[in-house]
Amino acid sequence: MKKSIALIGFMGTGKTTLGKRLARKLGLEFVDTDQLIEMRQGKKISEIFADEGEAAFRQMERELLGELCARDNLLISTGGGIVLDARNRECLKNNTFLVTLTARPGSIYNRVKNGKNRPLLESDDLYKRIVTMMAKRKKFYAIGHLVVKTDTMSEGKTIAKITEAYEKFCEA
Ligand code: S3P
Repeated sequence: MKKSIALIGFMGTGKTTLGKRLARKLGLEFVDTDQLIEMRQGKKISEIFADEGEAAFRQMERELLGELCARDNLLISTGGGIVLDARNRECLKNNTFLVTLTARPGSIYNRVKNGKNRPLLESDDLYKRIVTMMAKRKKFYAIGHLVVKTDTMSEGKTIAKITEAYEKFCEA
C-alpha cells in the first residue's frame, strides 16, 4: 500500500504532464480529476461550464475528490480550482501527500494561451486575468506539504525532489 500523492496548482503549472511521469516512476495509478469528470459526463469541461455552470462543475469535482481521497496508490492530478473549497482542501491535506506546483504568470501565459478548454481563462487580457486569479488563490495553493517551482527547475530535478520528499513523508 502506498499513500496517494495529489498535485495542486494554478492552470498550466504542469500537474497533468508531470503527474503522469511521476506516477510511472513511483508505480502509482495516474488519475486526473478533469479527465474523469469529462469521461463521466461525456462532455468537455468547457461544455459543462457552458451548459450547467461553474457551481455544477464544482459539485462534480467535490464528489469525485471525496471518492479519490478514500483510495491509496493514486497520483491525483487536480483541476486548478479544486482548492477553492475548504472541504476539498481538508480532504487533500489529510489523505494525500500534497504537492503544490507553481510557475510565474509569464510561464503560465505561454503554456495556456493556445488552449481552448479552460473557460475561466477566456478573457481579452489573458495575462491580467492570470495575475488576478493567481493573487486571489495564492493562499489556497500554499497548503501543500511541499511546494515546487516548475519553471525554474528541470522536470527531472522536480521529479527527484518530489520523490525524495514523498519517501520521507511516508517514513515519518
Ligand atoms: C480550473 C482549472 C481547470 C479545470 C477548470 C477550472 C480552475 O483545470 O478544472 O477549467 O478553476 O482553475 P486545470 O488546472 O487542469 O487546467
